[in-house]
Amino acid sequence: MFSSSSVLVLVALLAQFGAAKPVAEKRWDDVEVKHAWVQLPKGWEYHSAPSPDYMLELRIGLKQDKLDDLIQALYEVSDPIHAKYGQHLSKEQVDALVAPHPDTTAAVNEWLEHHDIDPASCHSRSSAGEWLTLHVPVSKAEEMLDTTYGVYYHPKSDEYVVRTTSYSLPRELHSHINVITPTTYFSTMRSMKATSFVQAPQPKTEVNAASFAENISPLAVPSSCGSTVTPACIAALYNTTGFVPKSTATNKLGIAGYLEEFASDSDLQTFFKRFLTTAEGTTITHVQVNGGENNQNDPGVEANLDVQYGLGVSFPTPLIYYSTGGSPPFTPDSNTPSNTNEPYLNWLDFILNQTTVPQTFSTSYGDDEQTVPLDYATSVCNLFAQLGARGSSIMFSSGDDGVGGGNCETNDGTNRVLFQPNFPASCPFVTTVGGTTKVNPEVAVDFSSGGFSRYFAQPTYQATAVNKFVASLGTKFSGLFNASGRAYPDVAALAEGFQVVVGGGVESVAGTSCSSPTFAGVVALLNDARITAGKAPLGFLNPIFYANATAGFNDIVSGSNPGCGQAGFTAVAGWDAVTGLGTPNFGLLEKLIV
Ligand SMILES: *[C@@H]1O[C@H](CO)[C@@H](O)[C@H](O)[C@H]1NC(C)=O
Ligand SMILES: *[C@@H]1O[C@H](CO)[C@@H](O)[C@H](O)[C@H]1NC(C)=O
Ligand SMILES: *[C@@H]1O[C@H](CO)[C@@H](O)[C@H](O)[C@H]1NC(C)=O
Ligand SMILES: *[C@@H]1O[C@H](CO)[C@@H](O)[C@H](O)[C@H]1NC(C)=O
Repeated sequence: MFSSSSVLVLVALLAQFGAAKPVAEKRWDDVEVKHAWVQLPKGWEYHSAPSPDYMLELRIGLKQDKLDDLIQALYEVSDPIHAKYGQHLSKEQVDALVAPHPDTTAAVNEWLEHHDIDPASCHSRSSAGEWLTLHVPVSKAEEMLDTTYGVYYHPKSDEYVVRTTSYSLPRELHSHINVITPTTYFSTMRSMKATSFVQAPQPKTEVNAASFAENISPLAVPSSCGSTVTPACIAALYNTTGFVPKSTATNKLGIAGYLEEFASDSDLQTFFKRFLTTAEGTTITHVQVNGGENNQNDPGVEANLDVQYGLGVSFPTPLIYYSTGGSPPFTPDSNTPSNTNEPYLNWLDFILNQTTVPQTFSTSYGDDEQTVPLDYATSVCNLFAQLGARGSSIMFSSGDDGVGGGNCETNDGTNRVLFQPNFPASCPFVTTVGGTTKVNPEVAVDFSSGGFSRYFAQPTYQATAVNKFVASLGTKFSGLFNASGRAYPDVAALAEGFQVVVGGGVESVAGTSCSSPTFAGVVALLNDARITAGKAPLGFLNPIFYANATAGFNDIVSGSNPGCGQAGFTAVAGWDAVTGLGTPNFGLLEKLIV
């Protein structure tokens, strides 16, 4: 697939010399590093120089003039004691708050013109113009960002990307530009359902009993649910039995899918036939974002799990599955704009451009926080704030690595061992879902990721709950985590033994990938109840959860999440960094916050 690399290296070197700029352009020559890695992101290796003509889809995230106002508005509409609680913002209201200052637009336009790019040719997601997209060859991007791109290879996923390990911007633009992509974010995004968690199939007799499954009484959760989880187990354990959604004309549950994971319609019907006969014939909506596909012959375990349990819990709430493109394979030597593999940005661009958005979302993907550049993570996290301000509840899996996977070494050159948080789980504007296992009692599952962000500060809404937990630790693990960071998970749900139909057969699946759609299904029911009662949907959940709803959770008080060679945090009474506030009791939550 690749041309001789020595020729390409020569071409790249010539391009670099050609990029020397005239002395007169001092304004744009005075550059400063915007982001640089001290070492190549783990798991990646340099492959070759890209062709200088290779087209990049460059995205420029401009500084939003009123970002503080947007965050304040998010907290006002999400704070149950604020007069504006539930008064979510429209697309136009959000766009107005995130528009760049005219000085920002002017400075960036002048810089683009200096590089012979017509600002009018850059398109923008919204009238706000806070993200500009332009198509430029690698040689031009290298000149603009004072950098050299490479083709990098990730052997484990057999994935190639065009990235750089460092990029710079004119000093003047640092106060105007938040982030430029694709640059230093080497996504190693993974689904929170590691392949190793596909458990041995259960004997058929145990799972092929729909009638058994649908007759479980809420007060008696059968012990079989501790190892073999079906929608009926969830209904019993989380106390949704008997609730009938009525606002299905407006209320919707969205599942964000990535990495060419396709949700199979026929598997969904098989799932209903076996585990939820009342839902037989119900279909989902497939939405394809940024070239995402919908290959019905190639069902993904993650996608099927997400839609089967999202809908299995919230039926008959309409479910939308978003298949977002931007993942490999792509051909580094083609000249068409690449799949840039910036998945969250592509999905958020798409969803924030809609005038109405689903009230509830679940996403079961993430990266190690330290592998996501801070500027990129901050920009994406702020886009989730926009979605929350619009009135959506956003769930993310916490991750499957306990307090950290692998050797837990930092990538800042010091190779210290620290607990490793996940992103977007660590973003303060999403609701992060950890994992549990077993019933009577339900306990923390040992892989449930939890901990403290090193990027995002502790939000006020969780201060009381989290500080109590931190105080109870004393000096335990001191130095291994950042006690002033955003702590997660916020909540939890079962994460083992999920019976998922894939390719016509039943697989038993584990991971916090099970927990997020399950919890989101319960939230979709709460949103239904609120809409039916003539109220606004819950929107951003964390403020009301921590302030008003703790009695609506089953507090998980045993189990821990080892990792990094340490025993990990322990689930205790109240909030903990393994299971958060606990697992949902829908009936009680309905009384508390609907
Ligand atoms: C945003 O939505 C408008 C109206 O539906 C559409 O014309 C435009 O192409 C969309 N932009 C993006 C970036 O999706
Ligand atoms: C701890 O978190 C705070 C808040 O996000 C951050 O400012 C600080 O840099 C972090 N410290 C370390 C050592 O990671
Ligand atoms: C939440 O709790 C506060 C008191 O802490 C109360 O004033 C408010 O009404 C509650 N909100 C809801 C929606 O229950
Ligand atoms: C389930 O919810 C109902 C309210 O709908 C409540 O009365 C009941 O106590 C709850 N069951 C359990 C086991 O918590």
